[in-house]
Amino acid sequence: MEFTVKSGNPEKQRTACLVLGVYENRRLTPSAEQFDAACGGVLSNLLRRGDLEGKPGQSLLLFNVPEAVCERVLLVGGGREREVDDRRFRQILTHAATALNETGATEAMVYLTDLAVKGRDLHWKIRQIVETVEETQYRFDALKSKKDAPRRPLRKININIPGRKEQSDSEQAIREGAAIAAGVKLARDLGNMPPNLCHPAYLAEQAQALTGEFSALQAHILEESEMRQIGMNALLAVSQGSAQPAKLIRLDYRQGPAAQKPYILVGKGVTFDSGGISLKPGEAMDEMKYDMCGAASVLGTLRACVELQLPLNIIGLIAAVENMPGGQATRPGDIVTSLSGQTVEILNTDAEGRLILCDALTYAERDEPAAVIDIATLTGACIVALGRHPHGLFSNHPPLAHALQTAAHASSDRVWELPLWEDYQEGLDSNFADMANIASSRDGGAIIAACFLSRFAKKLHWAHLDIAGTAWKTGKTKGATGRPVPLLTQYLLDRAVETSSQ
Ligand code: BES
Ligand code: MN
Ligand code: ZN
Repeated sequence: MEFTVKSGNPEKQRTACLVLGVYENRRLTPSAEQFDAACGGVLSNLLRRGDLEGKPGQSLLLFNVPEAVCERVLLVGGGREREVDDRRFRQILTHAATALNETGATEAMVYLTDLAVKGRDLHWKIRQIVETVEETQYRFDALKSKKDAPRRPLRKININIPGRKEQSDSEQAIREGAAIAAGVKLARDLGNMPPNLCHPAYLAEQAQALTGEFSALQAHILEESEMRQIGMNALLAVSQGSAQPAKLIRLDYRQGPAAQKPYILVGKGVTFDSGGISLKPGEAMDEMKYDMCGAASVLGTLRACVELQLPLNIIGLIAAVENMPGGQATRPGDIVTSLSGQTVEILNTDAEGRLILCDALTYAERDEPAAVIDIATLTGACIVALGRHPHGLFSNHPPLAHALQTAAHASSDRVWELPLWEDYQEGLDSNFADMANIASSRDGGAIIAACFLSRFAKKLHWAHLDIAGTAWKTGKTKGATGRPVPLLTQYLLDRAVETSSQ
């Protein structure tokens, strides 16, 4: 989809479809008001007759409006004028984009930027328009033999801005929105791939493919033999029951000052989590193909950052494994020595995410990073605690947690912080090793898992995002969300601004 910004009166736009916002109680947005005045009060007449109430989720398509030069007008309900918040604005956009797709127009001029959204500026609104339109266009039909493509797909959207003064910031908003949307799409595609095709080697190939597309990226794949040599035994313990060899995928993006410490994103890439010998119950087990969504978000975020040419040093690390109950599989009770030298008693092979991440975190120490953020579909307990709206956030460094909260607000990709108190640590005591990989009680499972990771992040400014509830949707709309690509990209955008203002 192509996006541009444009200013000018709505009635004078030669467009296939004008998109105007209408509030409840017959209130018009400023652009709708202007259009109404120039076109003999068509809109106010229609509202008076009750053809449209202006509720969110409602829309009305008009043709041949006298005095207007556009082919169609799509009126979109905005709800009560004072009640438009982030969520409502996104709802309105999703509805408008869906309705627009059904019109047959291949191009449109959108005036929804003049809906007043509480606490949000034009830049944010433009970004949301770009991200939401791309999101509603998304289909994963690569593996369907018959695809139902629209006859005349929407190709171009012009977004209205007040004037010249807003031009360059608005164009930047489009660039950011488009880069984030492309990153989200990549993460969704990878997440939705079936686990027979998307295995660790596939993720490695995808990382390589990204370096082909963007010359600023370099990839390096660590094979099992190398991982064994350096002592990544916790990671290898997860992989050993599978016929698919593990890969540690490293992507380097070095466009920052040479002396600048890198930001490292570590992704959990379990391409299928059967639970291993501690086998999962059958219900919804197919969804464990999404256990690599952390990895997918690392690739998606890197894609977005490269496209935005951020002047930063960024490293993506992906621990890619398959967790299967083969004859070579790890047994409950096995003890392994992790890359850090700490020993772990594996009491439950289904608590595998922390085992691959702990070695990846230790590995990350080598690059003396400014900050390390791991992203993982780590615990069902996180869904119990927070539901499916925010990512669970944990950090050993309050300024990093704060920066992520700021980025979450700016990108509307929300987080909620949970504690990492010492009190929880004793749950991981083991009689036979330095620690166990699970606690004996299920209480606070998301926190216990984060506490386990924190033992491998002592030398790092580290944050952990538990995306178990947010990486994909279940039920009728089952599919990957591409989150937290918006959050992570925003976090890095903010770091780039910080660097350039120093
Ligand atoms: N990948 C799962 C977590 C998960 C489960 C995410 C369901 C989303 C939906 C993880 O590897 C896992 O199995 N965790 C266990 C930990 C337990 C054994 C301590 C869990 O959450 O049950
Ligand atoms: Mn598991
Ligand atoms: Zn898992």
